Amino acid sequence: MEFLASVSEIMKKAFEQAGYPSDNAGVVISNRPDLCQLQCNGAMALAKSAHKAPFVIAEEVAAALRDLGGEKVFSKIEVVKPGFLNLDAAPSFVAEYLRSMQADEKLGMEKCGPKKIIIDYGGPNVAKPLHVGHLRSAVIGESVKRIARFAGHDVTGDIHMGDWGLQMGLIICELKERKPELVYFDESFTGEYPKEAPFTISELEEIYPTASGKSKEDADYKAEAMACTKKLQDGQRGYRALWDHIMAVSVADMKKNYVNLNVDFDLWNGESTVHDRIPAMVSRLRSEGYAHESEGALVIDVKEETDTKEMPPCMVLKSDGASLYNTTDLATLEMRREQADPDQVIYVVDKRQSLYFEQIFRAAKKSHIVKDETKLDFLGFGTVNGKDGKPYKTREGGVMRLSMLIEQIREAMLKKIIENKENSGDTDIDRAAAEQTANMVALAAIKYGDLSNQASKDYIFDVDRFTSFEGDTGPYILYTMVRIKSILDRYEAQGGKVSDTVLGEAEGEDEIALSLQLTGFAKMAREAFEELAPHKVCAYVYDLANALNRFYHSTRILAESDADRQKRYIALLALTERVFETGIELLGFECPDRM
Ligand code: ARG
Repeated sequence: MEFLASVSEIMKKAFEQAGYPSDNAGVVISNRPDLCQLQCNGAMALAKSAHKAPFVIAEEVAAALRDLGGEKVFSKIEVVKPGFLNLDAAPSFVAEYLRSMQADEKLGMEKCGPKKIIIDYGGPNVAKPLHVGHLRSAVIGESVKRIARFAGHDVTGDIHMGDWGLQMGLIICELKERKPELVYFDESFTGEYPKEAPFTISELEEIYPTASGKSKEDADYKAEAMACTKKLQDGQRGYRALWDHIMAVSVADMKKNYVNLNVDFDLWNGESTVHDRIPAMVSRLRSEGYAHESEGALVIDVKEETDTKEMPPCMVLKSDGASLYNTTDLATLEMRREQADPDQVIYVVDKRQSLYFEQIFRAAKKSHIVKDETKLDFLGFGTVNGKDGKPYKTREGGVMRLSMLIEQIREAMLKKIIENKENSGDTDIDRAAAEQTANMVALAAIKYGDLSNQASKDYIFDVDRFTSFEGDTGPYILYTMVRIKSILDRYEAQGGKVSDTVLGEAEGEDEIALSLQLTGFAKMAREAFEELAPHKVCAYVYDLANALNRFYHSTRILAESDADRQKRYIALLALTERVFETGIELLGFECPDRM
């Protein structure tokens, strides 16, 4: 159970015993931490209906609370004008709660659901290198997936590649120009095509932009590329075989990038996956009257009376009969319903596509491609900017490749780690180990730098700030965790056993604050799921790190001579470490043993 729900139980009883409804009896975190830890404002809401001053009601509730043994839960129960109940949690009650948290694999979070959830994230385009724009979808989607799983849901991640459009036709067209002798272009060929692709990833990455550039200048070339796209989609054998090669080469490269980001997908579906179901879907949309012709195109009207913004119809087929981005997204929703019947589908996509998804969601609901009760969520994210406030570029002004971005942070991190070692007098530096550590910390720097912002906001990718060991950063969180690990290690080296220690009643101010911060975990995790908000996990682990460091600086832990007290400290640190581990697991990165 969540801590606040747990302390609210007795408060509810007190309201009832005093003759009041308990709907507003919830205890919340105090907004005046200088006065009290917790508060209950329920009396204020009752004044009108009870025809009594809120102060009087609060007094009655406080009396009932004491009568019910409320002092076991609250070490302070104070009624203040105009009618608030100011409260402190009793250390014994907090200790009891922390012990129940420790005994629970979910750290007190109640299992909700399970709902069947599909998360659509990543969204890379085949044959184009991953760039900085792909970072956020991967990082946020991965975290939301982990948060939803932790909450107990049945979650499937689908990468939804862009693998079927004109870009494929462009590549085939350009290959045909360069190597017309390839067997793939021989329409009379009936044998088996070679296993080996006729290009490498770097060739592919050069072919695509070249072809794309040409098509913009040369109308005939573009027409040819479109014809290639059509032939591919119509199933021409040689083109399909080439497409298989493009996919294999490209996907292998994507996987490397995603492994570096510690991001993975259960399904590697793409736009092409639903190609075969489009004709039947379109014909149903027509025959059941959901779609109609408009200026030659086939569209579904999605405007609603209450709309204040422009809401154009959702196009299902272009005027030349070709399907488009919309068509594949609708068909994908249809496939997902048939294959998995999800309760919720979450799209983690650039927020500039928000109107597009509004159209898709409405069209899908209206035409019963998805059930009425299926929740469709668009988690739109903002842009990654450079220090100049403009979209992040390379020094030369080109598009920043994701692999280069990761490399940049890795290098900066390695430099820092080696510097730190040198400064601490370490002369015998194991470079390979340092690199491994640097890579782990670098990932935390990137992911935390991204996730600590509310997804919808743009943010500035600032290598210096992200890699700093101080402030609201990934490395600071890891540094704090390593600090705990090292204390626990030294405790064991001194002959202690962490597993023999027991959580007890906190005494000092900083120990109490750390304990209270720990009690907030379950509520935070629930809210992070409900609001699809990894930044809430970041804010929580950051507060936890601050609370831990304050406690560390004010407390003699390993030098404590009272063995029982020391055990209590160690138990608190061990639980803190576990909460941290869970938190960063939800964010999608890991902590090295030392830094
Ligand atoms: N490939 C798309 C792009 O680069 C993103 C795909 C998002 N997901 C989706 N189901 N449409 O813009």
